[in-house]
Amino acid sequence: MKSETSKLYLYHLLSVSLSDLKLTPHLEKIDISVPQSGFGDYSTNSALVIAKKTKQDPKKLAEKIAGEIAKHDSKKAFEVSVAGGFINFKLTQGALLKNLGSILDQRDLYGCSLDGEGKSVIVEYFANNVAKPPHVGHLRSAVIGDCLYRVMKSQGYKAISDTHIGDWGVQFGILILAFKTLKPNEEALDKEPINELNRLYVEMSAKIEAEPTLREQAKMEFKKLEDGDEENRKLWKWFVDESLKDFEKYRQALEILPFDYNLGESFYEKHMPEVLAEFQEKKIITTGETGELYIDLEEYALGRCILVKSDGATTYHLRDFATYIYRKKEFNFAQNIYVVDNRQSHHFKQLFRALELAGYPAESDARHVDLGFMSLPEGAISTRKGTTVSLENLINEARRRAIKIIEEKNPELENKEAVAKSVALAAIKYFDLSHNRKTEIVFTWDKALSFEGNTGPYLQYTHARIHGILRKADSVEVYDVNLMEKETLKPQELEVMRKLTQFPEVVEKVAEDFLPNSLCNYLFELSQAFNAFYQEVPVTQELDGEIKLFRLKLITATAQVIKNGLYLLGIEAPEEM
Ligand code: ARG
Repeated sequence: MKSETSKLYLYHLLSVSLSDLKLTPHLEKIDISVPQSGFGDYSTNSALVIAKKTKQDPKKLAEKIAGEIAKHDSKKAFEVSVAGGFINFKLTQGALLKNLGSILDQRDLYGCSLDGEGKSVIVEYFANNVAKPPHVGHLRSAVIGDCLYRVMKSQGYKAISDTHIGDWGVQFGILILAFKTLKPNEEALDKEPINELNRLYVEMSAKIEAEPTLREQAKMEFKKLEDGDEENRKLWKWFVDESLKDFEKYRQALEILPFDYNLGESFYEKHMPEVLAEFQEKKIITTGETGELYIDLEEYALGRCILVKSDGATTYHLRDFATYIYRKKEFNFAQNIYVVDNRQSHHFKQLFRALELAGYPAESDARHVDLGFMSLPEGAISTRKGTTVSLENLINEARRRAIKIIEEKNPELENKEAVAKSVALAAIKYFDLSHNRKTEIVFTWDKALSFEGNTGPYLQYTHARIHGILRKADSVEVYDVNLMEKETLKPQELEVMRKLTQFPEVVEKVAEDFLPNSLCNYLFELSQAFNAFYQEVPVTQELDGEIKLFRLKLITATAQVIKNGLYLLGIEAPEEM
């Protein structure tokens, strides 16, 4: 739950102070930021802004406001000071101790809030395609999507996850044609159906390149599928079922949470006619030269958005319109987010713009959470035909490498296999999560699996290290951290406590900008603050009983926050490794 030291409390203090000083019209000017280190925990330029508007001396006004704030701060949470018109706030030791107490009380709930209560959010990710093995691009979507789903839930939203699997479209005509005319390898089909189907698809696509009349045949097969032809339906259904089994296998291997819905593109087949009728009625559809139906977005420099092709086949776009409208009606979402790589940015821009023309507020309630591409350096793992690297290979390779590291580091460890599995996943996931999702990244094993630096294994290791200390100390004594003598607190302790207070706000921000890398950075900084503290300040060797108890509580809270943060990232926190 939200701590009392939060920004919200500061907003409250600042606004009542301004109001008491009759500066209420300037309320909208309140801007609280986190300053560079050395200037306290928060800072506001409100005095500067108001002084300029009302032609007052900024320094004097800042002092007046600061005085008023100190008067209202009944919790004694902040030391207020003025520097060059800025008002700076430093959390008091009392506030830091109080926050430490709430972490120990709230445990797994520290960092959660009810901000999103009553609002639904659709989080769509891991939108695989039927009959194709998922590639590393789908991995990014899975990992970042799973994290955002967890974060939205933690902030009280009714988060709904959906995959929007690619199970409809002309490509199924190609696949059916391939299946019927190119001899599938029965054994391969039985053992590894997805790979074999993908092979058939690739072969047929190449044939179509060379022999365009085949494309017409493929289109016919899809038309037959759309018209309900029994044989084609049966084949298609089999492709889908096999693929769903495969996706579930990957979901489990990646240990991402189960999905609430698994509504593939084909689910919207029945809704497409309604959408066309609705758009016709709203007069936003144009018929093209060859009979295709489209929405004209030239005016917005977005070209044409095709809904139905000249041969009557429906498009990926049309299914996305149906999806948005269905979700709106069914779930009345406040936000609908698509975690998809940036090669589809144009698609989503067209989608949202066109929905606006149809009267839906998609520019504000839908969002493409775009991902840069992740590539693997040549030779990192065996690649199948160069371009795509199967997710399965990536996970297996990570496990192999992790177990080797564990063997070296801690040969006595009991459940090595399980720990290696969780380190492997941490390495892969954290690599994705810790880079700004918009950037293109190159995956490297050494970086991902390193136990030093900003990596998943480093955070897991710091967490396990704390548990190791706690196990050795074997202390079960109850101790109220608020009783700690403030004078005895060391700067390294204060630094850890200060970092601990920031966690709820960091999570809150991820729920706003959907950038999990800031949560990663935060956890890394917290771990560094802890390690600096532990290097210089004795914990178990401390002779004073009370101080020792306090420090054990401090590290307990640190481990708790690392664990809570890792949970939101979808990463396990073993207590021993
Ligand atoms: N299946 C698509 C792909 O793999 C991604 C789907 C994205 N979601 C959407 N609603 N269009 O490229």
